[in-house]
Amino acid sequence: MTKTTIQAIKAAKNTRKLVVITAYDALFARLIAPQADILLAGDSLAMSFGGHSDTLPITFDEMIYHTKAVCRGASDSFVVFDMPFGSCASAKSALGNATRVYKETDASAVKIEGGTEKAEVIKRLTGNAIAVMGHIGLTPQFARQSGGFKVQGKDDAAIERLIGDAGAIEEAGAFAIVLEGVKASAAKPIAASVKIPVIGIGAGADCDGQVLVWSDLLGFFEAFKPKFVRRYLEGAALVKEAISKFADDVRSGAFPSEQESY
Ligand code: KIV
Repeated sequence: MTKTTIQAIKAAKNTRKLVVITAYDALFARLIAPQADILLAGDSLAMSFGGHSDTLPITFDEMIYHTKAVCRGASDSFVVFDMPFGSCASAKSALGNATRVYKETDASAVKIEGGTEKAEVIKRLTGNAIAVMGHIGLTPQFARQSGGFKVQGKDDAAIERLIGDAGAIEEAGAFAIVLEGVKASAAKPIAASVKIPVIGIGAGADCDGQVLVWSDLLGFFEAFKPKFVRRYLEGAALVKEAISKFADDVRSGAFPSEQESY
């Protein structure tokens, strides 16, 4: 399999839907990669893996560690590194941090949360040969400042702002945008307003592709289930059942058998 290119991702707009799935480690990256156009080493790992209540605590070094693992597990995949909270405060620091991503991992691009206010940062990166995916709408890194995870695009003014954000990010040279947590009726005009693919998460069916967090998609994350998540596996229930069988077998002496012994 050959690695997807930025050109192929852009060409998908109005042609085919893009499949984007998060991955945090080599094991699952390898399982997910064959079906995904893009693997996102997302900072959501702070919540689904790290047990935090938002994405802010994840460090740059931790993101590098996980992204390296994802790239090792899926060496033919287009991997996007999610720039963690605080790593894009200025164009200068963002460029330094993103350069580190390209030097230390095989990620093909970075993702930056924020709209018009991040356009200058995005422009600096794209002007220095770093591919950038934008992320607007419900931006989890802003959750503490904005008072939680709130659906966006609820009125005409909000939709106009998001269209402005998408345009500013496109203009700054991003190759795609994640649009999170917006009303489906708002996502449609936002996606139509730009020439680059808009990947939805909780943004209805009219986006150019969909992204889900792997542990939501496979039902491993039990703490809560957002309305937009469809579980394709009841992973947590299956794991608990298997672990309970193992524990029973250990306690009863049924494991290991003779065949499982040297
Ligand atoms: O961190 C992440 O997994 C993300 C997706 C929710 C888009 O940013």
